[in-house]
Amino acid sequence: MNKPLHEGALKPEAGETLDPRDWDEIRALGHRMLDDMIDNIASIRQRPVWQPIPDAVRARFRDALPRAPSALNDVYREFSDNIAPYATGNVHPGFMGWVHGGGSAVGMLAEMLAAGLNANLGGRDHMPIEVERQIVAWMRDLFDFPPDASGIFVTGTSMANLMAVLVARTSVLGTSVRQCGVAGEGALLRAYTSNAAHGCIAKAMDIAGLGSEALRRVAVDASHRIDVVALREEILRDRSIGLKPFLVVAAAGTVDIGAIDDLKAVGALCREQGLWFHVDGAFGALGMFSPVLAPRLAGIEQADSIALDFHKWGQVPYDAGFLLVRDGEQHRAAFAAPAAYLRREARGLAAGSPWPCDLGPDLSRGFRALKTWFTLKTFGTEKLGAMMARTCALASYLEARILAEPRLELLAPVNLNIVCFRYRADDANGVNGVNGEIVIDIQESGIAAPSTTMLNGQLAIRAAIVNHRTNTCDIDALVDAALDFGARRSAGDPRLIEVDAPPLAM
Ligand SMILES: Cc1ncc(COP(=O)(O)O)c(C=O)c1O
Repeated sequence: MNKPLHEGALKPEAGETLDPRDWDEIRALGHRMLDDMIDNIASIRQRPVWQPIPDAVRARFRDALPRAPSALNDVYREFSDNIAPYATGNVHPGFMGWVHGGGSAVGMLAEMLAAGLNANLGGRDHMPIEVERQIVAWMRDLFDFPPDASGIFVTGTSMANLMAVLVARTSVLGTSVRQCGVAGEGALLRAYTSNAAHGCIAKAMDIAGLGSEALRRVAVDASHRIDVVALREEILRDRSIGLKPFLVVAAAGTVDIGAIDDLKAVGALCREQGLWFHVDGAFGALGMFSPVLAPRLAGIEQADSIALDFHKWGQVPYDAGFLLVRDGEQHRAAFAAPAAYLRREARGLAAGSPWPCDLGPDLSRGFRALKTWFTLKTFGTEKLGAMMARTCALASYLEARILAEPRLELLAPVNLNIVCFRYRADDANGVNGVNGEIVIDIQESGIAAPSTTMLNGQLAIRAAIVNHRTNTCDIDALVDAALDFGARRSAGDPRLIEVDAPPLAM
């Protein structure tokens, strides 16, 4: 027979809580961590954007599971020496790869406060959920959605797009699909997006059980916007052969070049055809904060659902994705699932239904809303909108520099804050080899961090200017580095620039 678990285990010396023995000691170290990280952000320009991880550092993280305790000070030293210097680099103003936000000191502090509260936002009746509801209400206002629209924080737009596909699917097939699955009528469903759409849309169709092949990829025009005439034809053709069109996903800022689909026209087509109109606004949707950019998003207010990220243009630290659904009832119908252990009450801690766990797959959820609330309250949407417009002005400055430089070629129209270009080279060492090498050289030099994409069969150097710290000097450094490495690579001289990188101020 097993011994009772309390036998011997409750003696005073047998176990301790995880609280520190000396609160003053942890307070002092905590203050130092905070000072170090604030110094790190304040002096970010003095360091390389990114640096490769030395083998010895990587090897340290193949360690055995720690069984014995270590001093917090020593663990922090490991962080300072081996983790912080080799982060992604998106805090740095020279980071222009993919679509990464720069975060802010305000968001960092809020994240610390959220961790201190250790709130679980799956449900129950507490103020952290009211903070999330406050942001849902702000998003409703921003996009002119009705009072019964619902919203929820998620990891990122990939998750928000997946959830939108699930809500649209349940809306068209009825809630029985949640018990019976998508066989039968579900196999006939077809969704539509442009061939410039983010890969997570096809993945969402796959995970939703509809299959990525049930997603039609419609051609784009010269500005990379979905061809609405072709979209209409495709929908009608599918209907004529007995298939069931149910969803169109339009882009408010494509990942490659930041193109915004004609949201008014797509919305009108969806209404005419009775289709769910979802907008992937991962980084572009919050352009609504800017009076300069908002008119370009006209039509977004007609959407049935919008996915967006506060962690991109909104500069909230990772992660802070968000889904807004026009019809809150349909949103709940797709996810709510009663359980005895999640019983709701009219009073007490189990009050406050519906809970966020009724609006998505997660039960345990962190307090993403707090860093978003701090960011929106502290800066205000006017300042955030002006910052977004400034990143677009910087993209236009980069475009002008490229057009003025015969050795560089612009590869796509500059719609928002993303610029795609190449160094003119014959790429003799393989398809687009020179430009691919240039991007890696620039990243390894620590000067800037662009990324790449393929446009019309050509590899593009892609600069997504999202970081609020980026300035014209960072754009100039990128152009100069592209020209420098381009000349060396073309001449077969891949010497790398040695960057004198001071260690982190930690
Ligand atoms: C247009 C678009 N959609 C979706 C995503 C995926 O967003 P996340 O990385 O937050 O999941 C991105 C990411 O860059 C994007 O640009």
